[in-house]
Amino acid sequence: MAEYEYETHEYDVVVVGAGGAGLRATLGMAEQGLRTACVTKVFPTRSHTVAAQGGIAASLSNMGPDHWQWHMFDTVKGSDWLGDTDAMEYLAREAPKAVYELEHYGVPFSRTEEGKIYQRPFGGHTTEFGDGPPVQRTCAAADRTGHAILHTLYGQSLKNNAEFYVEYFAIDLVMSEDGQCQGVVCWKLDDGTMHVFNAKMVVLATGGYGRAYFSATSAHTCTGDGGGMVARAGLALQDMEFVQFHPTGIYGSGCLITEGARGEGGYLTNSEGERFMERYAPQYKDLAPRDYVSRSMTMEIREGRGVGAEGDHIHLNLSHLPAEALAERLPGISESAKIFAGVDVTKEPIPVIPTVHYNMGGVPTNYWGEVINPTKKDHNAIVPGLMAVGEAGCASVHGANRLGSNSLIDLVVFGRAAAIRAGQIVDADAPNPELNQASVDAAFARFDGLRHAKGNVSTAELRLEMQKTMQADAAVFRTSKTLKEGVEKMAQIAAKQDDLKVTDRSLVWNSDLMETLELTNLMPNALATIAGAEARTESRGAHAHEDFSKRDDENWRVHTISHLEGNKVKLSYRDVVKDPLTTEKEGGINLKRIAPKERTF
Ligand code: FUM
Repeated sequence: MAEYEYETHEYDVVVVGAGGAGLRATLGMAEQGLRTACVTKVFPTRSHTVAAQGGIAASLSNMGPDHWQWHMFDTVKGSDWLGDTDAMEYLAREAPKAVYELEHYGVPFSRTEEGKIYQRPFGGHTTEFGDGPPVQRTCAAADRTGHAILHTLYGQSLKNNAEFYVEYFAIDLVMSEDGQCQGVVCWKLDDGTMHVFNAKMVVLATGGYGRAYFSATSAHTCTGDGGGMVARAGLALQDMEFVQFHPTGIYGSGCLITEGARGEGGYLTNSEGERFMERYAPQYKDLAPRDYVSRSMTMEIREGRGVGAEGDHIHLNLSHLPAEALAERLPGISESAKIFAGVDVTKEPIPVIPTVHYNMGGVPTNYWGEVINPTKKDHNAIVPGLMAVGEAGCASVHGANRLGSNSLIDLVVFGRAAAIRAGQIVDADAPNPELNQASVDAAFARFDGLRHAKGNVSTAELRLEMQKTMQADAAVFRTSKTLKEGVEKMAQIAAKQDDLKVTDRSLVWNSDLMETLELTNLMPNALATIAGAEARTESRGAHAHEDFSKRDDENWRVHTISHLEGNKVKLSYRDVVKDPLTTEKEGGINLKRIAPKERTF
């Protein structure tokens, strides 16, 4: 193996990833005076949060009555009763505070006539604990909300002296013999130098793994790097079978058309011009949650009512909306529709199809973002020195299905929570942990092995094989047959990693090697997804199993814990947290309100 010289950097906290969660954590850490570094493989404002369109949920009541308990109820029901109750209460309660903080940091939200933050309706967000009409809860900066948040948080982080290491690729975590995270080993992409970050706390904010699938709204950088590092460190992943399909990806390109389009009055039609959502969700129609709408669209297509020459997609109609409203509220998607579908939204419908959008599963954490190791006897045992936030983490606030606009609020609420917690437990005066050299060496050895890989299969070929298998076998609807085949195929595909071929051996801007490292991160995420899905013999949220079409709370109201041994996935289960943070007497929710029931809209 080549010898790798490296530079060591010492910080109190190292955040890996600079999307909304990573930047909110970075800012919160730096504001408290912790020496904070943010390591990111892309320039911060190019992180995938920049693509978030429709908005961020918080019960501000700017457009009509709302309450945090209604938001909590919707999140519980949206999760199909798989979310952890403490985390869901924390999210809904803290959301308004977190949004006002963003406003004060300078996020340029759209405004109402009175100058308040503008809020739009989004799927699954309701009033009166699901008995009232849809609520306008999603705070928006036109349809570029993620863009606005990301730029603001980056500026504020710089102002608070956070240090950024841009275009550094995280190879692996440094773990002590007794399981404490001590840092992360990185490769600087633009000059080929190697770096070891030694920290008292490492925060994984690496985003999702949408690119395990063939068609996704996610950026090509969404390769589950945090999950990959965690799996290699022998730690667990949670609820990976729950993969969200966004109803309105542009047919062909997969580019996102925000749910805000339906929030502003858009609607879906089939080949008969019928507004079919009225049949599937009579109360909330096009504003039912995403899993519901995606399944309904898929059913329409299967039953021969899809649009287009091959009858394989659906129409999203906006042309009945005033052109000025489209220009003011939905300028970004009007442009995307033109570029990616050749459609003028003021005149024609947009061709759309359910497209992979979000991973509800991830690295298991408590609601402070501290990573837990549920494979230990104490299922809530904390992994010292390690946190995970945003889509990389699983608090679990979204359970089996996330509501639209609950992602941006998850990023800022839990990025902020991680900073609050780090402020309590990271001692800025204490020395940094002594690095476990064996763990550092193992990271370089893995890197070197891939750099010199001389097999027969290219990274691009193997990635495509994985993506097509996941797309076909872990889709909107799943069956025992497709899942069994998927598990077998994925095992064969994963085994081919030993036969990978990397042709560029250089260290400077070696995209071949970087994509190979990314593939080795995608793979454990994909393996855990399909194994968890095959084992779960019920339907819940985004996991729609045709051979087990009912939710089974008696046997399956549990989190799936996946633990990888090489390419083998070992599954175990952990109870859902059913207790809220506060009792009704303390101002909390009446538990009867959130007791499991049939999920209809
Ligand atoms: O539809 C959207 O604007 C996406 C939002 C989200 O995933 O939360």
